[in-house]
Amino acid sequence: MNSVPTAGPRPVYLDCDTGIDDSMALAYLLRSPEVELVGVGTVSGNVAAAQAARNTLDLLALGGRPDIPVAVGAHHPLEGEFAGPVPHVHGENGVGGIALPPSDREPVAEDAATLLGRLAREHAGALSVITVGPTTNIATALRRDPELPGLVREVTTMGGAALVPGNVTAVAEANVWNDPDAAAALVAAPWDVTLVPLDVTLENQLTEADRQALLGADDPLAQAIGAMLDHYFGFYTPLYGRRGCALHDPLAAAIAAGTVRPTRAPAVPVVVDATAGPGRGQTIADLRGQRLGPVDRPGVRTRVVLDTDRPLGPLLVERLVGSSVAASAPAT
Ligand code: BDR
Ligand code: CA
Repeated sequence: MNSVPTAGPRPVYLDCDTGIDDSMALAYLLRSPEVELVGVGTVSGNVAAAQAARNTLDLLALGGRPDIPVAVGAHHPLEGEFAGPVPHVHGENGVGGIALPPSDREPVAEDAATLLGRLAREHAGALSVITVGPTTNIATALRRDPELPGLVREVTTMGGAALVPGNVTAVAEANVWNDPDAAAALVAAPWDVTLVPLDVTLENQLTEADRQALLGADDPLAQAIGAMLDHYFGFYTPLYGRRGCALHDPLAAAIAAGTVRPTRAPAVPVVVDATAGPGRGQTIADLRGQRLGPVDRPGVRTRVVLDTDRPLGPLLVERLVGSSVAASAPAT
């Protein structure tokens, strides 16, 4: 454990491929007093890294935090080329095709891996890293600075599928599929990793009633998320048999913030298949011996979240809608 005690909100760095659930993760972090978002890096995944940065800048401005630095990161994975965006899931622009009010800010000059390295040194021992896209920037930062793991408090990463099927191939989850070499590097590094896989993210959902609550909020950020969710619901409705969506990225954010707690998260060896065969992109978690309850393997620093203490949906709505109520309440 590298952590040093911090008074007040914990500093967090978010690495994302700003699509729709990334937007929810970003909003959740902005509206969570437990954490202070100190920087955002983007990567190609749901959209190209440059478009993800545009979306992030616009969302931060809408959320009243235009001061937070945004760095464009890797356009291509460590090996090979970016496979292209997924408009059928996240819309042509990554945010469901809605037009966010354009921010006049630009990304910072440094790239995402450099921003991460700098923030890790500025907040040595205190920085929590959250990844909700392919982890190319993290792997690049690790290559550049082997001391990085010793500077970071912990890493929470949305990715993988431990005991359930993948969502791109039979075994591969999208973030890992888009850069398996980077995911392999992340879980192999000597730091505390909390892996938030499809096993739990698919079990946390938003409903149409939740979306209506966001649309009705007195907060433009919540309203924008409610609007973009229309497209995301269109993708997920056939999967769930009712209007709604999975909460992949915001669950990682909530676990990192400590507002949703893992109740079953054994520390077990995890390896990522980066070969070219049918197993490419699989996260192989060695869960042998877990039948009666979580059993941590000695010396292992990667936890695989298999269950949590509460559903995220109601909490996410409360944070996004409730904060606007608090913000707009008259001072007493
Ligand atoms: C992950 O893939 C992306 O499409 C989502 O934003 C999420 O990070 C889910 O597999
Ligand atoms: Ca994502």
